[in-house]
Amino acid sequence: MTNPSSNKKKTLLYNLIFIIFCGAIFLFLWKAPEETTAPLPHDSDHEKFFSMGKKEAEKYCTDCHNPEVVALPADHPPKYRCLFCHKKQ
Ligand code: HEC
Ligand code: HEC
Repeated sequence: MTNPSSNKKKTLLYNLIFIIFCGAIFLFLWKAPEETTAPLPHDSDHEKFFSMGKKEAEKYCTDCHNPEVVALPADHPPKYRCLFCHKKQ
């Protein structure tokens, strides 16, 4: 015989475990690259971006960071939203 109230508790528990699990994965993926990734440099090429909004500044990155001018490393991760990984500090 099934007991509906204990089933409900189980479902709640599984949902909780699932949420915690997803949170852990999310934190791992989000935190891991960020800590070792080079921040946006403070130099004449990059100084002007510190005072811009992120989306605004990112329009200019590929003017220089493209295979013809300053190529990114071959093993560079997916590169939309530069400033999510290369932080302004
Ligand atoms: C005017 C050209 C130019 C633009 C625009 C530009 N960069 Fe750069 N960037 C360079 C050059 C040249 C280097 C390599 C020399 C150096 O380390 O400063 C470099 C280096 C870097 C580095 C490596 C720093 C390190 O510590 O090794 C990062 C990260 C970077 N740029 C991010 C960005 C981001 C993000 C943007 C857009 C907001 C951007 N750059 C826009 C020219 C540019
Ligand atoms: C998902 C996070 C992420 C995004 C988004 C991202 N990068 Fe990177 N970038 C990295 C990591 C991690 C490295 C170091 C990888 C390596 O050395 O192979 C790196 C390396 C670099 C380097 C070389 C730094 C050095 O020390 O030599 C440059 C320049 C650079 N990225 C520029 C950019 C630009 C410009 C954009 C946007 C068009 C961008 N990145 C978007 C994570 C990111």
